[in-house]
Amino acid sequence: MQTVESLVDLRNTVHTWKQAGQSVALVPTMGNLHEGHLRLVDFAHTRADRVMVSIFVNPLQFGQGEDFDRYPRTGEEDARQLVSRQADLLYLPTVDVMYPRDAGQMTRVSVPGLSGRYCGQSRPGHFDGVATVVCKLLNQAQPDIAVFGEKDYQQLMIIQRLVADLDIPVKIAGVPTVREADGLAMSSRNGYLDQAEREQAPALYQTLQQLASDCSNEPPNFRALEKEGANLLEQAGFRTDYVAICRKQDLEPATDRDHDLVILCAAYLGKTRLIDNINVTVDQHA
Ligand code: PAF
Repeated sequence: MQTVESLVDLRNTVHTWKQAGQSVALVPTMGNLHEGHLRLVDFAHTRADRVMVSIFVNPLQFGQGEDFDRYPRTGEEDARQLVSRQADLLYLPTVDVMYPRDAGQMTRVSVPGLSGRYCGQSRPGHFDGVATVVCKLLNQAQPDIAVFGEKDYQQLMIIQRLVADLDIPVKIAGVPTVREADGLAMSSRNGYLDQAEREQAPALYQTLQQLASDCSNEPPNFRALEKEGANLLEQAGFRTDYVAICRKQDLEPATDRDHDLVILCAAYLGKTRLIDNINVTVDQHA
């Protein structure tokens, strides 16, 4: 696996591949790779001849008081894992490569509407940071396809929207969430949980499963179910940030006319904020 830090080196390698007629996939990450990320790499291999992975802990997407400084940086282990999954290239831009201009002068990308709700409401500016860095990574690497995890479903929708709105010639693919044996969605932030919190954590997905099954109740009352979900989480020791039953295609609050839904949630265990989601298809309502 080749490792590059500069934009010139990245572009040269991608150019060589494309000259040889090879298709290229990008898997953007912030490192501290786990099986969820590695499945993105596996998936990318099924869709492109060459797979590159970027690792960049993006300061722009962390708010004040969030975990930017303590976000786990495990470069050597990450590189070993990527070699074991046959990644072709690891792109490790520095902050200076990514953001050469002062914060106040920098061009930013913003996806209004979608970015302001759910996680965006609790983390103001977060999705502008994500949209900006993803837009830059796509322009830097110019992949044919870019692959993201569905655990960050709202992020995936925002990225799809920005690519459509800015006419970026790339296909965006989502890969289903990978879970621990007890159902907890894999996440770099799971490493922050102490033993007691780790034992409580599966209740997040269990709550989503319960709500998903309750969505078929007649008549459906999604707003009441959201409240019920928040209560279930509190009973399981979480501090609920939000539970939202949404239309899958645009994340608008679901109504009883909608059938393809996704339930999004975020909740704290101690200081650790976990997110998860579940897809729900409800039958035609009576
Ligand atoms: O999902 C992530 O790890 C990050 O938000 C991403 C997409 C790599 C942008 O920094």
